[in-house]
Amino acid sequence: MRILSGIQPSGALHLGNYFGMMRPAIDLQEKGEAFYFIADYHSMTSLFDPVERRQNTLDVALDFLACGLDPKRSVFFKQSDVPEVTELAWMLSTLTPMGLLQRCHSYKDKVDKGLSPSHGLFAYPVLMAADILIYDSNVVPVGQDQKQHVEVTRDIALKFNEQYGPTFVIPEPQIRGETAKVPGVDGEKMSKSYGNTIEIFGEEKALRKKIMGLKMDSRGPAEPKPDAEQNLAIQLLKLVAPPEVAKDFEERLRFGGLGYGELKKALFDNYWNYFTDARTKRAELAANLDYVNGVLREGAAQARAQARVVLQRARLASGLE
Ligand code: ADP
Ligand code: TRP
Repeated sequence: MRILSGIQPSGALHLGNYFGMMRPAIDLQEKGEAFYFIADYHSMTSLFDPVERRQNTLDVALDFLACGLDPKRSVFFKQSDVPEVTELAWMLSTLTPMGLLQRCHSYKDKVDKGLSPSHGLFAYPVLMAADILIYDSNVVPVGQDQKQHVEVTRDIALKFNEQYGPTFVIPEPQIRGETAKVPGVDGEKMSKSYGNTIEIFGEEKALRKKIMGLKMDSRGPAEPKPDAEQNLAIQLLKLVAPPEVAKDFEERLRFGGLGYGELKKALFDNYWNYFTDARTKRAELAANLDYVNGVLREGAAQARAQARVVLQRARLASGLE
């Protein structure tokens, strides 16, 4: 089984990225042949500073390796080290109906927010389809917001197979129900573009301040809260605390007697502890960038060899060869 996913180097990675995509991806590396990449071509649709892109790319590599991506089990690489994917994206775009892309929520949301769209932003899902199809991927672990893009990939692959004969494997999205949509500090979906993130790695004081600043309602500590499971701090605590600890806090909130300050402090402490080992590992990696760059170089060579096989298949099927 081939497992594949990507993540954009468009800003510091956060708990939504971690629980929605990175953790499931890391768990899956035991289950098959995993390919994970840093989607730097995709980041060009929203980030226009070269220095930032270079730095973010390195940061994503460090974050992912620190969190448990094991380069002995998974092929880890930078998207643009396999330029073949852009050729495949062109081929796929010739069979992609405009309407299919016009219906994509992520595109529509950005346009609704007033962003003046580039052709690259519009064509984003076609490049993503090429990413997935060029490695014969079976399973694509992503958060809920990327599900539609994997469905678009399936549509495009079916269309190509129908037009030119069986060429591509049809992939399946894999979404973990309980962490499909991690909320941010404002209760909306946590996202780099909404400025509501809790970073995986960051400065202790700033993160403590962010968590202690979570907005709660005005009910007093003694008041029972029958809606305890909807409390934002409880939802986040369930991700980072042992289940019995989270359950205990939820019950205390439900029946009254737990103040929001104490709850938020527990959230910060559990969050900070959750990533303690990863923080140590990240510092070690940051002091050994030759190793990190070597991992990406080796990953790119392996990924490129695979990509060439599938691209050649598509070139033959479509009469380019
Ligand atoms: P962002 O919205 O912060 O820009 P990306 O689009 O780079 O995040 O997402 C990278 C991966 O992380 C994707 O698989 C996406 O579905 C997942 N992801 C991002 N935010 C969340 C969230 N709040 N909850 C669950 N998964 C998320
Ligand atoms: N669009 C994805 C995101 O923003 C990143 C991505 C690019 C991706 N290509 C992919 C994810 C292929 C899975 C498979 O999160």
